[in-house]
Amino acid sequence: MFGKDQPVILHLLDIAPMIESLKGVVMEIEDTASPLVHGVVATTDLQEAFTNINYAILVGAMPRKEGMERKDLLKANCGIFKVQGKALNDYANKDVKVLVVGNPANTNALIAALSAPGLPKENFSCLTRLDHNRAKSQISKRLNINVNQVHNVIIWGNHSKTQYPDVNHAYISGSATGGEKSQVRGAVADDAWLQGEFITTVQNRGGAIIAARKLSSAASAAQAIVDHMRDWVKGTPEGEIVSMGVWSDGSYGVAKDLIYSFPVTCQDGKYTIVQGLDVDAFSREKLELTEKELQEEKEEASAFLH
Ligand code: LMR
Repeated sequence: MFGKDQPVILHLLDIAPMIESLKGVVMEIEDTASPLVHGVVATTDLQEAFTNINYAILVGAMPRKEGMERKDLLKANCGIFKVQGKALNDYANKDVKVLVVGNPANTNALIAALSAPGLPKENFSCLTRLDHNRAKSQISKRLNINVNQVHNVIIWGNHSKTQYPDVNHAYISGSATGGEKSQVRGAVADDAWLQGEFITTVQNRGGAIIAARKLSSAASAAQAIVDHMRDWVKGTPEGEIVSMGVWSDGSYGVAKDLIYSFPVTCQDGKYTIVQGLDVDAFSREKLELTEKELQEEKEEASAFLH
């Protein structure tokens, strides 16, 4: 995640009933014989887990089961992320970078950020890189090109079925285009697909995986976590836009103080929301729909926050 020469000390936190399973995870980590693992702290104690950490990947949430919607999860998860936000506030390094993965990820990240008044809101993010990667992958499949040739798709909003995968600023590069950049919309040349099936496939992909596996995504989520943290810490390639759920500063008319997925670039350990992209009427409607859902989640969550 941070490069082949960056050692890490892993702090693994789980709840008491899972301690035996956690010991198994530690055994497996040892058995990877990874030279980059310079230590493992496995604990059920919040203080021990969060003390002096630089990066926090919060994957532990009440998992969604088949047929369950995110809102059903809010109450249970509010409890978890309030406690973890406070622990980050009290014990972690002040520059800790936090990535919330457990669903509902945006609102869980919001709860954690609001529960950590001593930390900058820019330290908190949620995972929409999985959706970003899914969107790239769908385009690459459709055009029969390598996924690396697809650039600058954008995921707006919530990591849920209201998210908006947007290809209006996306382009393809490389041998597929004779080395030239070519806009995805023109290359696909099927607006009905781009504004219909493509969007719904990406929006529903998490649910489709749960229906097929009877378990939530795992490997693809892990890859997205690596991509998200690596880019945040080490920077995005010149000209490359990625998607991150971050604290809204009102960009693109989105309400402030929500964790909303925006197009971002990263440099020197900081993300910047890409400004000035055109948002057409179709997109505007989608941006507002997913914003509305996040506002509703925030309202529901606030009942459990105090
Ligand atoms: C995913 O997108 O694969 C997961 O967030 C789905 C889920 O609800 O666990």
